[in-house]
This record gives sequence, C-alpha cells and structure tokens, in this order.
Amino acid sequence: SCLVPRSVMRKFDPTVHRAVWPSTGNYARGGVAISRLMQSRGVAVLPENMSKERFDWLDEWVTDPADIIRTPGSESNVKEIYDACHELAKDPTNFILNQFNEFANHVGHYAVTGRALGHVFEAMLRDEPSLELAAVVSASGSAGTLAMGDRLKDDYGAKIVAVEALECPTMLYNGYGEHNIQGIGDKHIPLIHNVMNTDIVTAVSDEATDGLNLVFTTDVGKAYLRDSLGVDPAIVDQLKHFGFSSICNTIAAIKTVKQLGLGPDQVVMSVATDGSEMYGSEKADHLASRYSEGFREADAAAIVSRFLLGAGTDHIEELDTVGRERIFNLGYFTWVEQQGVSLADFDARRDQGFWGTLHGMTPAWDAMIDEFNAETGVRV
Ligand SMILES: Cc1ncc(COP(=O)(O)O)c(C=O)c1O
Repeated sequence: SCLVPRSVMRKFDPTVHRAVWPSTGNYARGGVAISRLMQSRGVAVLPENMSKERFDWLDEWVTDPADIIRTPGSESNVKEIYDACHELAKDPTNFILNQFNEFANHVGHYAVTGRALGHVFEAMLRDEPSLELAAVVSASGSAGTLAMGDRLKDDYGAKIVAVEALECPTMLYNGYGEHNIQGIGDKHIPLIHNVMNTDIVTAVSDEATDGLNLVFTTDVGKAYLRDSLGVDPAIVDQLKHFGFSSICNTIAAIKTVKQLGLGPDQVVMSVATDGSEMYGSEKADHLASRYSEGFREADAAAIVSRFLLGAGTDHIEELDTVGRERIFNLGYFTWVEQQGVSLADFDARRDQGFWGTLHGMTPAWDAMIDEFNAETGVRV
C-alpha cells in the first residue's frame, strides 16, 4: 500500500530508487520482498535486537548485505529508526517509505483488510443471521492494520480496540519501556492512527506472549492443551500460526469480551499477524532463562491459567473524549516537534472528515493502478 501510490504517480522509479523500509516487524520483510520482485534494491532498517529469524530471512532476500541496516535497541526504539532514515534520505536515490506516517498504509488496510474481514463476517452471518460484529481488535505497530477497524465500524458499527505491550504502555499510561512483542508498540503514536475513532485501548504483557508461545509450540504444552483441557487436536495444531503479536491480539480479544460483557451472538474479530516460525530463537532463550530444569505440564498449566483463562479487565480503558484527546495529543511531540509535521497537518487528523476523504480516494487509486499496469504490461 505504501509503494503503490508512489509508483503509479511516477514518484518512485524502481530503476533509479532504492526503497527504504523502516520497521520493527514484518514490514521490512514485505518491503524487501516486493523490491526484489520489482527487480530493484530494497533496504531494511530495523533494530539490532529483533529476532535472529527475521535477520536470517532478510539475508536471503536482500540483493546486497549492506541493504540491512541495524539500528540501536529493540522493539520500542523507533526514534533510532527515524534517525537512520533521515541520514539515508540525504542520498536522493534513497526513497523512504515510512509506514508510520504513510497514509496509504491506513487506506490499504481500510480498503483491503477491512473488506476481507467484512467478507468473513458476511460468511458467518449466512450461517448465523443473529450475529453482530461487536469489536475489532488489533495491536498497533504502525497502526495500519487498525484501519480495518475504521472500515468495520463504518460497515457494521464495530468498536475499534487498539492494543499495545504492557511493558511499553504508550496509549494507556503514556508509558515507555522495552518489550518483546515484535512488530508492535513503538513508544509513539503513529501519524496514521485515527485515534479519535478508537474506542478501547488495552495492554497485554510480553510475559503472556512469551509464555503462551511455549505452550502453543512445545510438545509438553500441546499435550497439556489436548489431554488436560480437551482442546480439539486440530485446533492445537493450528496454534503454531500464532506468533507473539497474534497471541497478543487473541488475549486482547478475550479482555474485550469481558470488558464489554459480550455474549455468544457478539463477534470479536482480529488477525493472526505472523506465526511462531519467526521466534524459534526467542523460544530457546525463554526456555533457557525461565525453565532451565525443563518445561513441564505444571508450567504450561500455570501459563494458561494466568494468561489465557485469567485474562481479565485489567489494563483496559474505554475511551471517552478526554481519553482520545490525551492519546492524540501525545503524538504532537513525535510528529510536530521531532519530525517536522506542520501543526495544521497534525491537527487536521482530529476531524473524521479528513479520514473520510482519504477513504474516498480508493476508486481513483484503483483507476491509476489499472492505467499503470496497462502501460507497463503488468498483468494481475
Ligand atoms: C508481527 C507484527 N505484528 C503486528 C504488526 C502491527 O501491524 P501495524 O503496523 O499494521 O500496526 C506488525 C507490523 O509490521 C508486525 O510485523
């Protein structure tokens, strides 16, 4: 989504530009892969402490090892990523595609992810017409994915739930800190987050996601779920598709159900943002540091009881105007003071008309994409 408008408006030229993809999660992977498919160079900019699997993956995909830039820190060190991007931007052949302030990211998720989830809900409705879409839950990295909530609120009246790591609770407590839910929670409010349309914020601990990752991916953990809790083996087999932020979304969805007192006809939707295969090395570290004597059934039981069955209404806020304003205004320090966005542009995003205009742009973009494909001979 970030690249398409730039390409079809002829601002980005893959034969000249190196696309720069700043990220703490999957965005850099997707970006580098797209650059490679376009037979051009892509640069991943990400904190040095992201998982080994992410770097291994990138090593395979970049055309030059110098195209992986490691910035200081870990998950929540986004300022350092911006600093690296400002340096790279001095070279006019570098083209920075910043997911955190690129409105096309929001529009893409509104138009595509939101619609896709809408189709899923429509399919559910065919079987159970009494269902109601109560809420949409997404942990926020760039806040792009959260825009699916804007779409599902427009179409079905769903509440939008934004989630972050308890160890870095920027929205909930204006807090800071390090955490291990890779891909989310970057110690700032992204410019493309439609905060004034967000209904609930909640935080999930990385202790929960690290712990449940063990339960979902170890033989001991899976046996406990199957044999002691009676979870269908087919479901247990699918749990490997839940990486840290996917587990975080799931816990947040449970918290939302409890907070809103929802019943069986009220649906909460979320997304599994990546799978456990990105976190094998993190799992080994966690096992070694916390379970050096071995990971036992009692350990799995303790994790499930505390973090899954015990997920409750702590660290959750239903936003009123004051709450929304508080989160919105926090973005001022990043965007206006630090990154040079004009105050008028920053404030314009309070108004839902601003976002409505953005959402209305998709037919024009689709037409430009068709025209571009026809001219370049790309067939989809
Ligand atoms: C693994 C993972 N989870 C969650 C997210 C958050 O998505 P978004 O940036 O759309 O808020 C990302 C973003 O890159 C991610 O890589």
